[in-house]
Amino acid sequence: MFSRLVRPTLVSARNFSTSKQNNFKVAVAGASGGIGQPLSLLLKINPLVTELSLYDIVHTVGVAADLSHIETVGKVKGFNGPDTLLDAFRNADVIIIPAGVPRKPGMTRDDLFNTNAGIVRDLAKAAAEVAPKALIGIITNPVNSTVPIACEILKQAGKFDPNRVFGVTSLDIVRANTFIAEAKGLNPKDVNIPVIGGHSGVTIIPLISRATPSVSFPEDQLKALTGRIQEAGTEVVKAKAGAGSATLSMAYAGARFANSLLRGLKGESNVIEPAYVVSDVTESEYFSTPLLLGKNGLEKNLGLGKLSDYEQELLKAAIPELKKNIKAGVDFATK
Ligand code: NAD
Ligand code: LMR
Repeated sequence: MFSRLVRPTLVSARNFSTSKQNNFKVAVAGASGGIGQPLSLLLKINPLVTELSLYDIVHTVGVAADLSHIETVGKVKGFNGPDTLLDAFRNADVIIIPAGVPRKPGMTRDDLFNTNAGIVRDLAKAAAEVAPKALIGIITNPVNSTVPIACEILKQAGKFDPNRVFGVTSLDIVRANTFIAEAKGLNPKDVNIPVIGGHSGVTIIPLISRATPSVSFPEDQLKALTGRIQEAGTEVVKAKAGAGSATLSMAYAGARFANSLLRGLKGESNVIEPAYVVSDVTESEYFSTPLLLGKNGLEKNLGLGKLSDYEQELLKAAIPELKKNIKAGVDFATK
C-alpha cells in the first residue's frame, strides 16, 4: 500500500542526492490541522519534497520544529498567520490546501460553505500573487464549490490555468479500492476502481463495472457498495462523534495525490490520478475523471470511458447537484 504513496523508502530518502528535476517546494495551507499534520509528515518523508512550507493561522512554528527533526532531505519552515502567507507560498511548485472547518454529525459538506469559501478565496489570491505557476490541490470542503471559487479568483487575477487547479478526490478512490477488495477478499494494492464526478453524496460515482481486476456483484450488493462509497465520509464523521471528519485516510490520499503531481512535474511518464477539474466531458463545467499528469499539471483528461446502465443513472443524478454546487462557488467569487 505504501508503495502507491511514496515509492522511495525512508532509506532511499536518506541516500537521496538532489538534482534540479527532483527538487520541489511544496506548501501546505492548514498545516496544523487534523489533515494538515499527518499530510505534512508524509510530505516530509517524500524525497521529491526538498522545501516544505507549512502555513496555518495557529501552531505552525511548533509543527515545523517537530517535523524538521526527521532525517530526510526536505527543509521545513513554519509560517504562522496571514502576514506570513505570501512568504509561505512564494514560488511553490505545489500548494495543497486542507485549511478550513470539517463537518460534525448531522452536517452536509455544503454547511461548511459559509466558513470555508472565504478561506479558499484568500489562499487562491495569495497563490495568484506569488506562485502563479503552482499546481494547486484543494482538499477543503465543499470541494465541488471551493474549486470553482479558486478558479474564479485566479481568473480575476489574470493567472488562471485550468491545468493547474485540482479538487482532491483521491480519497474516494482509496475507499472504493479498500471496500471492493474487502468484499472480494483481494489485496487492496491490486485493486483499482475509477471514481468520477464530484466529492459529495450522489456526485461521487464509483465505476465498479470498470474495476481492475474485473469484479461483479448481485444488484443489491452493487447498490449497497456504491452507497457506502458515496457516504463513506459520513461514516467517519458519525464514528468520530463530533471530533471532526476523516483526517488520517485523507492525509494518505492527499500525500498520494501530491506525489502524483510531483512525479508528473519531474517528467515521469504515465502518471494517472483522478481529480475534480475544469472539464468538458459532461454537461458539468467541473468534473472528476482520471487525468494524465505531467510537467505542466493536467496533460490529458482521460474522460469517462464506458459506463454501465446503472452508472449512467448515477451520472444523471449527479449532474444537477454538481451544477448547483458550481454555481454557488462561482456566485460567491464573482459577487
Ligand atoms: P481541522 O479543523 O482539523 O484543520 C483545519 C486547519 O485549517 C486548522 O489547523 C485551522 O487552524 C486551519 N485554518 C483555518 N482557517 C485558516 C486560514 N484562513 N488559513 C490557513 N489555515 C486555516 O480540519 P481537517 O479535519 O483537517 O479538515 C480540513 C478540511 O478538509 C475540511 O474542510 C474538511 O471537510 C476537508 N476534507 C476534505 C476531504 C476530501 O476528500 N477532499 C477529506 C477530509 C476532509
Ligand atoms: C470525506 O469524504 O471524508 C470528507 O469530504 C470529509 C467529510 O466531511 O465527509
